[in-house]
Amino acid sequence: MKIFLDTANLEAIRKFNDMGLLDGITTNPSLMSKEGGDPKKVMEEITKIIKGDVSLEVVSTQYSGMIEEGKRLRQYGENVIVKVPMTPDGLKACKYLSSQGIPVNVTLVFSPNQALLAAKSGAKYVSPFIGRLDDVGQDGMSLIQDIKKIFDNYNFGTQILVASIRHPMHVVEAAKIGAHVVTLPPAVLDKMLQHPLTDIGLENFLSDWKKLKAGI
Ligand code: G3P
Repeated sequence: MKIFLDTANLEAIRKFNDMGLLDGITTNPSLMSKEGGDPKKVMEEITKIIKGDVSLEVVSTQYSGMIEEGKRLRQYGENVIVKVPMTPDGLKACKYLSSQGIPVNVTLVFSPNQALLAAKSGAKYVSPFIGRLDDVGQDGMSLIQDIKKIFDNYNFGTQILVASIRHPMHVVEAAKIGAHVVTLPPAVLDKMLQHPLTDIGLENFLSDWKKLKAGI
């Protein structure tokens, strides 16, 4: 399973990239806005740091604007994936950009049918938002199960990029289903690294070693 970081925070991107954990990055207008500064510089920097796929999102809602923005975003690097919303214009833009060799991530997906249509439009990635479904009392993870089944039934090449992840168990469940990618807020990736028994075990190893009063 590929791990993407869902952030525009350069410090977090560098931190986890240096650990060899990142296969890519996803951003969205809210994440860019949270970091502030000049978004162009941030996008430039992210695409410099990360060799894998970097999703950068259009803000136009019209087909022609999406195409124009998509082409501009792609100039940040060959690894840029243009993110478009799951709307009629978004799917039309997805079809066109994909036909031009520009890969697309269709975002704001909340139903199996939306995922099916995004795959039919040639999307490289489809982004179902599971946390936001959980937030409104629906089962986000069952959406991932449904999409996986549908894509497998018809051998769609579109990858399931599980988004809006809230906690480490979301990752475990997505991996058990066989989703291709999870995109994680830095705080969730931090939590995945930790276990109290690791800390206690290390503390014990070190205090036992000290009793030897020796070096390595
Ligand atoms: O990048 C899209 C998605 O991961 C957003 O998550 O936490 O805003 O629902 P969230």
